[in-house]
Amino acid sequence: MNKSSEAKGKISGYSKLNRQQRIELLHDIIEHSDLHNWLDSWLHSDEKHQKTFENLIENFITTFHLPMGLVPNMLINGKYYLVPMVIEESSVIAAASKSAKFWADLGGFKAEILGTERKGQIHFRWTGSPKWLQRQFPAIIQKMRDATRHHTHRMELRGGGITRIELINKTSEIPEYYQVDVAFETADAMGANFINSCLEEMAGILKQELATPNDPGSAEVIMSILSNYTPDSLVRCTLECDIQDLEKLSENDSPYVYARRFELANQIAIADISRAVTHNKGIFNGVDAVVLATGNDWRAAEACGHAFASSSGHYRALTDVEIKGNTFRYSLTIPIALGTIGGLTRTHPLAKLALEILGNPGSAELMKIAAATGMANNFSAINALITSGIQQGHMKMHLPNILLQLGASQTETETATTHFSNHPVTYAAVEKFLQQIRTTV
Ligand code: MEV
Repeated sequence: MNKSSEAKGKISGYSKLNRQQRIELLHDIIEHSDLHNWLDSWLHSDEKHQKTFENLIENFITTFHLPMGLVPNMLINGKYYLVPMVIEESSVIAAASKSAKFWADLGGFKAEILGTERKGQIHFRWTGSPKWLQRQFPAIIQKMRDATRHHTHRMELRGGGITRIELINKTSEIPEYYQVDVAFETADAMGANFINSCLEEMAGILKQELATPNDPGSAEVIMSILSNYTPDSLVRCTLECDIQDLEKLSENDSPYVYARRFELANQIAIADISRAVTHNKGIFNGVDAVVLATGNDWRAAEACGHAFASSSGHYRALTDVEIKGNTFRYSLTIPIALGTIGGLTRTHPLAKLALEILGNPGSAELMKIAAATGMANNFSAINALITSGIQQGHMKMHLPNILLQLGASQTETETATTHFSNHPVTYAAVEKFLQQIRTTV
């Protein structure tokens, strides 16, 4: 399919081309007899929906499909949820479902919100005295609050708004560098536009207030932007049971040995960065899939989660295990700033549906659901890793993909599925099996 593996050269005015012209340009790079129709075949048949997707981005050529599935039996704070996930990796939904079912019998996930604060900053240079700046600041804050009233008024009616404005002297890190650090509550909205609009308005005030002729210094605003680091938009999720209740999972070991192995696996993920990243990636298998399904920003969730995991100066697992007497306690503490109104949650029909399936939660409830789902995935992963290993279950779930890649017919798929229900699945084993049945018919 690949013709030249690179475009013919620098393209100018690409964004001004229409879709037809953009696709024509693709013919320089890839060989496809019917590229336009083929790309059209991935478009939505409903014109209104199609327009929605087209208008989300620039230089649109087609829609990229990902599967959406549901995790049943997620019991969170005594309430059952069917959790929608959008994910391309086989076995993630099966893994979350397995944990959800196991823990539902033991009281489920307990989740609590430790904070919902979001932040943004105005980064600026100030050449004058820090003390002079500090003295002016209360009056500047007042002017900033007044100037942003038209943005904050509606947010305040919904229980949000600007909760704190602080001047931070960062000159020990970069000469003449200061920040106005602003904390926000955005109720159920993601609030990106609200925060950025407030910050830009406030930056205007800052410039104006520091530009009077007799100031003992000069100011330069470098940038004003929300921060995706939201360590105070935090949720803690906990699983707790009697160690004896782990017997179903502990295979040939005693549940006490199993609990100790689990604890050690978590300690390793706290101590060792190579393991910690994979451990946390397993948590984000669940978190991201819910974040994506509900139309939220999964890059923000990932970036923030990993920064939080290294906030002690040492990147570590986001989970903790505690074994006290006969009690096994597993917890996840994770920052996830989510919205349930506005943005894609309003425009993407499937994000809307996902929220409906969850009973139209507010953002705090959605944070708990995403965290619990991440934990469900992580629990299943650690359980598999310390018992039978990850490949057995993973490859079983991957079997349909392998069969598809090898062009198996319906009958071959059925025969192979029966065979591999009690044989180890590897790509080579499936290929060999198909060759065998093809030569014997
Ligand atoms: C695979 O997507 C995720 C795991 O690697 C997570 C882990 O190792 O904890 C199974």
